[in-house]
Amino acid sequence: MSEEYRIWARDVLARVTEKMEKVSVRSADKIPYTTKDGVHDDWSGDDRIGWWTNGFWGGMMWQMYELTGQERYREIAESVERKLDRVLMDAQSMDHDSGFKWLPTSVNCYRQTGNPASRNRALLAANNLAGRFNHAGQFIRAWNDWGDNGPDRRGWAIIDCMMNLPLLYWASEETKDPRFAQTAMRHADTAMRCFVREDGSVNHIVEFDVDSGAMVRSYGGQGYADGSSWTRGQAWGLYGFAQSFRHTGKQAYLETAVRIADYFIAHIPESGLIPVDFCQPMEPAWEDSTAAAIAASGLLEIWQLLKGKREESTKSAESVPEDDGRKYLEAAEKLLRTLTDRRVNWDDAADNLLEKCTAAYHDKDHEFSIIYGDYYLIEALMKLLQL
Ligand code: GLY
Repeated sequence: MSEEYRIWARDVLARVTEKMEKVSVRSADKIPYTTKDGVHDDWSGDDRIGWWTNGFWGGMMWQMYELTGQERYREIAESVERKLDRVLMDAQSMDHDSGFKWLPTSVNCYRQTGNPASRNRALLAANNLAGRFNHAGQFIRAWNDWGDNGPDRRGWAIIDCMMNLPLLYWASEETKDPRFAQTAMRHADTAMRCFVREDGSVNHIVEFDVDSGAMVRSYGGQGYADGSSWTRGQAWGLYGFAQSFRHTGKQAYLETAVRIADYFIAHIPESGLIPVDFCQPMEPAWEDSTAAAIAASGLLEIWQLLKGKREESTKSAESVPEDDGRKYLEAAEKLLRTLTDRRVNWDDAADNLLEKCTAAYHDKDHEFSIIYGDYYLIEALMKLLQL
């Protein structure tokens, strides 16, 4: 990375830290998902505590703790973690998103402080996640059913789950019991086979027959249509497979991450602003800044992994790969530069960082702030500085 970019990233992170000083005081007792008129909402009530995004605010507080060393960030992060205990005790709230909830909170806390209660929470969550594995279809079931009116989702798996697998890899590393990682790898193998298309794009949802395990069909899910390319799904895919490679060393996962990344990079518009779906109609030109932030962080992960492989092959005097992954670094830099120049709200009075985030193409609302966009933006900037 050029010196100019390092200085730029340091300056941007300094501005983020300055803004978060104020935001974190205002939102210390909340678990935010979005903002209304610039003010964080709060999802810590009983009716919403199970929502899949509720680990990210705690994760952001750990990011700030790492950047500043200020104890109050650790205290907020730990209070979010304790609030999530209600989810651990509610079978209906426990879905496949345990990684999103307990990696940024409990696993982070355990790594930083050695707190045995955090280890316990993360292991309970990992056990629950592993218990969602369907042996016939070799996949982890995504969501629970929401009563009689919704579809039967026992056979549904989604690409996002690739980002939950690191909780299972962590549990195996922590307990020395390979079952968790074995489960994660079986799911990743199925995802490689059934989610990733010939051109490197990915399905959002795939349905399997719960008894025979046969693939039934795919769905467009939060994207534009079946067969289209929901951009956040592409980002989860490229990042998730890169992480599976990091934890297992299985070459096919890295190759899959690279294929999805190549597809993503080839479809980044000239503007650098990411639509909700790469196949959506020209109008309305809805954006999803979260996809840009997640993809940037995942592309940096791929860059680091390829750089590591290059260094390894130099050491063992094997032929050095031509491409050391620079293109992934450059694409990430472009995405981040565009976000920070055009899509970050730098006003200290507003609680969010990113603007123009979209949860799903067919939702009623589009282009608002979403907490995980802010989390992955900070994560990507920290990776640029190798923090
Ligand atoms: N994991 C759900 C989403 O990305 O919206």
